[in-house]
Amino acid sequence: MAAASGCTLHRRLGRSECLMSFSDRNMKPPLIDAFGRVHTSLRLGVTDRCNIRCFYCMPAEKVVFRPRSELLTFEEIERFVAVAATMGINKLRITGGEPLVRSELPKLVQRLAQVPGIEELALTTNGILLADQAADLKAAGLRRINVSLDTLDEEVFRQVSRRSGLKRVLDGIFSAKRAGFEKIRLNAIAIRGLSENEIVPLAEFAREHDFELRFIEYMPLDADGAWKQEEVLTGEAMLRILEKAICPLEPAGRNDSSQPAVDYRFVDGRGVIGFICSVSEPFCGNCNRLRLTAEGQVRNCLFSTAEWDARAVLRGPGNDDNLRQLLRDCVWAKRPAHGIGETEFQPPARPMYQIGG
Ligand code: 5AD
Ligand code: SF4
Repeated sequence: MAAASGCTLHRRLGRSECLMSFSDRNMKPPLIDAFGRVHTSLRLGVTDRCNIRCFYCMPAEKVVFRPRSELLTFEEIERFVAVAATMGINKLRITGGEPLVRSELPKLVQRLAQVPGIEELALTTNGILLADQAADLKAAGLRRINVSLDTLDEEVFRQVSRRSGLKRVLDGIFSAKRAGFEKIRLNAIAIRGLSENEIVPLAEFAREHDFELRFIEYMPLDADGAWKQEEVLTGEAMLRILEKAICPLEPAGRNDSSQPAVDYRFVDGRGVIGFICSVSEPFCGNCNRLRLTAEGQVRNCLFSTAEWDARAVLRGPGNDDNLRQLLRDCVWAKRPAHGIGETEFQPPARPMYQIGG
């Protein structure tokens, strides 16, 4: 988009390129950060609970969950989303912990689907409870589902998640397909020493059933603090394994530069694979995301070390303008990038299950 000559903010920031056009007078006031990134996407954690214990996210034992009274109610979440939507948020993704353990989740989906301005409504789940809920979620207005699937081997599933349940996950995925979800996406973590043997069967499974598949590089968000840079299986390494075992991959291009994945298409025309190279090739420059945790803290990055307390406003005397100001402050404070691998990098105090991915 051409530089917005009338845009004081962008002139002040010295940006040559404006990420949005101000010529559209109907456009909502943008949630714009100090680097010109316009925020349109919000990830909503709805619980910190989970029914499995993936080692890259949760501790094995003694998990301390927040009491229910600390979690935002559906009314509070809906109010927050409605306010955020007046500032240009148009895309929501419901996450957890595991979102399907939050009781009556389809009711929340139904409310959110009706918020003016929300155009995309998606959910990321581990799939264990999906067979029971897929039809209700679809009927409630959910548009897209991502299911985490790291392996097709029950023994490896048990090693990773410290629980059994692969069959339930697969049932969940096929139930979602039968319920009418199009373009179901599978997310697999990429960890050296674990994923090398999983990625080819996963790719073949996705090709056979026409699922999208994304591999996500392992990030320092595990509760045990055990992450090591050497354990990251990079997108590039995976590409080589897949090409050798299946067939060459070619860049598939992308139509949304804020999407973290780089997509490749198998040259035989059967399937697209995305790589989220959050560690080897950070994509922070195009980030347009905000996060709301289950207990109402707003984060401007997965790796934020600061949070903005929306629950205090929602439960206190504050009004919607106070919430808008909180969102503006949070976005304005966003750092340019996460800085994994740099000497000053500090992992966030919260592991993944308390942020929501
Ligand atoms: N690094 C990368 N991805 C992670 N996820 C959970 N923990 C990590 C981590 N440490 C992913 C899961 C799931 C999504 C919610 O977040 O694989 O797909
Ligand atoms: Fe955005 Fe933070 Fe993720 Fe970078 S690390 S892409 S800034 S959320």
